[in-house]
Amino acid sequence: MSKPSAFAAPKGIPDYVPPGSAEFIAVRDGLTRPARLAGYGHIELPIFEDTGLFARGVGESTDVVSKEMYTFADRGDRSVTLRPEGTAGVMRAVIEHGLDRGQLPVKLSYGGPFFRYERPQAGRYRQLQQVGVEAIGVDDPALDAEVIAIADAGFRGLGLDGFRLEITSLGDDTCRPQYRELLQEFLLKLPLDEATQQRARINPLRVLDDKRPEVRELTADAPLMLDHLSESAKSHFDDVLRYLDALGVTYVVNPRMVRGLDYYTKTTFEFVHDGLGAQSGIGGGGRYDGLMAQLGGQPLSGIGFGLGVDRTMLALAAEGKTAGTPERCDVYCVPLGDDAKLRLAMIAQQLRANGIRVDLAYGGRSVKGAMKAADKSGARFALVLGDRDLADATIGLKNLGNGEQQQIPLDDAVATVGDLLDRS
Ligand code: HAM
Repeated sequence: MSKPSAFAAPKGIPDYVPPGSAEFIAVRDGLTRPARLAGYGHIELPIFEDTGLFARGVGESTDVVSKEMYTFADRGDRSVTLRPEGTAGVMRAVIEHGLDRGQLPVKLSYGGPFFRYERPQAGRYRQLQQVGVEAIGVDDPALDAEVIAIADAGFRGLGLDGFRLEITSLGDDTCRPQYRELLQEFLLKLPLDEATQQRARINPLRVLDDKRPEVRELTADAPLMLDHLSESAKSHFDDVLRYLDALGVTYVVNPRMVRGLDYYTKTTFEFVHDGLGAQSGIGGGGRYDGLMAQLGGQPLSGIGFGLGVDRTMLALAAEGKTAGTPERCDVYCVPLGDDAKLRLAMIAQQLRANGIRVDLAYGGRSVKGAMKAADKSGARFALVLGDRDLADATIGLKNLGNGEQQQIPLDDAVATVGDLLDRS
């Protein structure tokens, strides 16, 4: 047993170590690929930003901002926050670099770690990995459908099928304020506990998301945004659904959907996986037509999503599927003696320069130990070199698949291995 380390990763912060890390890369890349095919350019965002950006962008009343941010003063006494999500940062960068003055929509994709001080549990981490896209500056239902179809294709491309897409419309400036009032009026008449009443006063929509059966029952007849959409929000939503139908993206309309971030308007969606227990959201997003103006930019619309890489990995496991193959090498070098090791190190370098994956048994292992390592490495061929072979200018080339071994001229090793790997 290995000695326990004096340190452990902070609570709720996952490591991604081999061989499982190969799946992490495959999932991240798999979720990103459909965005590349649709012309989304990569944006690499800072890990931390001015705290005010998230307070203003995500919303002061959200759990994310009020309870979950990693906020600290830097050495210059500026309040900074580890990014809890990507959309606000993308907006800031788009405004700062004037991308909104070029061709619209601005289509961007990003990925990486985000930080939320949530109570850790299965599928809920304090450092979470997302792949996201944002499409800014065009309020076209066809674009909403594109964004949703990209997320759907990302999950399906990895082989997932045990999820559903839930979708609704949260209305716009012209209908949401009235609806909010209507809902508030309805909720405040109910015999709700003090904390829930308080929530109804601050953010009534969130009460609709309450999972307690008694609250569910009380709010069963609550007015729904979908029944109070303005003409234009309604026709936008109908068009999004028409496009999704045409693109073969299946969905269920969930008029009670509530998202944890305040910036959403109109189309809002979530991908929910049934095999994950409480943390079932594998991705979500929507429109945020007022966000850019709120952050000091032009009044441009936007839509995007964030897909959870960690939860997608859990979803794959729940479906008994895997993605990616652990890194392995093509050739494993077994030196028997110091001079042989030096020569093999040189051969390994030449092979790698030719794009061949090569590893070497370091540390003066026994022949038996080194050959075992060769087998375990997954390599197709082993190059075995002893000091006596060096004197003869030959090298042993072993096919690890069938166990056949032959001596070949040492000077031909790089070319021969290259030919063999090319041909097979
Ligand atoms: P979000 O719904 O807060 O949206 O997060 C997106 C996804 O990140 C979730 O569906 C989930 O899979 C994953 N996720 C969130 N929190 C955790 C956690 N603590 N542990 C593991 N996974 C987690 C956003 O972040 C928006 N920025 C998405 C967006 C982009 N909307 C428009 N554009």
